[in-house]
Amino acid sequence: MSIVAFASAKGSPGVTTTAVAVAGSWPAERRVLLAEFDPAGSDLVPRFALHRDPGVVELGSGHRRGLTPESIWAHTQTLPGGVPALVGPTSPEQALALREFWTAAGPALATLPDTDVIVDCGRLAPDSPVLDVLRHAAIVVLVAHPTFEGISHLRARLGRRLAATCSVVVLVGDRPYSATEVGDVIEADVAAVLADDPRAAALLCGKAGNPGTLRRSALMRTAGALSHWLSAVVRTGPPASAMTTATTGSAPSRLQEVSR
Ligand SMILES: Nc1ncnc2c1ncn2[C@@H]1O[C@H](COP(=O)(O)OP(=O)(O)OP(=O)(O)O)[C@@H](O)[C@H]1O
Ligand SMILES: [Mg+2]
Repeated sequence: MSIVAFASAKGSPGVTTTAVAVAGSWPAERRVLLAEFDPAGSDLVPRFALHRDPGVVELGSGHRRGLTPESIWAHTQTLPGGVPALVGPTSPEQALALREFWTAAGPALATLPDTDVIVDCGRLAPDSPVLDVLRHAAIVVLVAHPTFEGISHLRARLGRRLAATCSVVVLVGDRPYSATEVGDVIEADVAAVLADDPRAAALLCGKAGNPGTLRRSALMRTAGALSHWLSAVVRTGPPASAMTTATTGSAPSRLQEVSR
């Protein structure tokens, strides 16, 4: 039904972790699929001891026969907790070799019946093959750390036109800069702030642990609220306001420099 794309400008702010958390807390009445399209290579395979196949590579090499809902679902594996996942290429070389698959994947996933697709697009670069997929996203979520360099790269990326009509920013943590301070610099509301919660993040990255601890964690609480907000956005169109509306206020002078 809709693609919700997650990406970063630079660094490793937590795109994959956030995508896994959001897919895992997607409203139960809606079917969800997690697609790992990071051209730098899969993290889901090593983190969750999954197999390389089936996944994007097998699906991509056979796609000339057509990307059908059946072929897409036939290439999924299941994450602990039950979320179906289409695992990504294992290397950038594999991602490049997939070529036309990336062009075909956007329309196929955006029209997957009765399913919202959470796509991990990795880092956005002008030559990323996944830019084609973004053109079919209902919303692009840019994940960033609220650090001086994180905001600087985010601002540069926001300055380039993203393919989707609607893109929003989600921060991991609120230190050293708050959502208000970041919003002032990027001149847009920050849609949400996810808890900076290393223990829960480690579980979402495949570390063994108690699922109840993860469910009750600050990270899953904030991710759950984000999932509900995003699922409403994809149903009803671009957001009129951010999930947490940034109030006005002055950013610290060092952060202001980013906007120059
Ligand atoms: N909300 C969070 N709180 C604390 N730590 C986090 C959070 N999200 C992610 N992390 C940690 O940050 C590191 C990077 O996370 P992740 O792999 O999700 O980032 P990424 O943006 O997908 O990186 P890459 O671009 O390399 O794929 C991991 O060690 C992860 O546990
Ligand atoms: Mg990642």
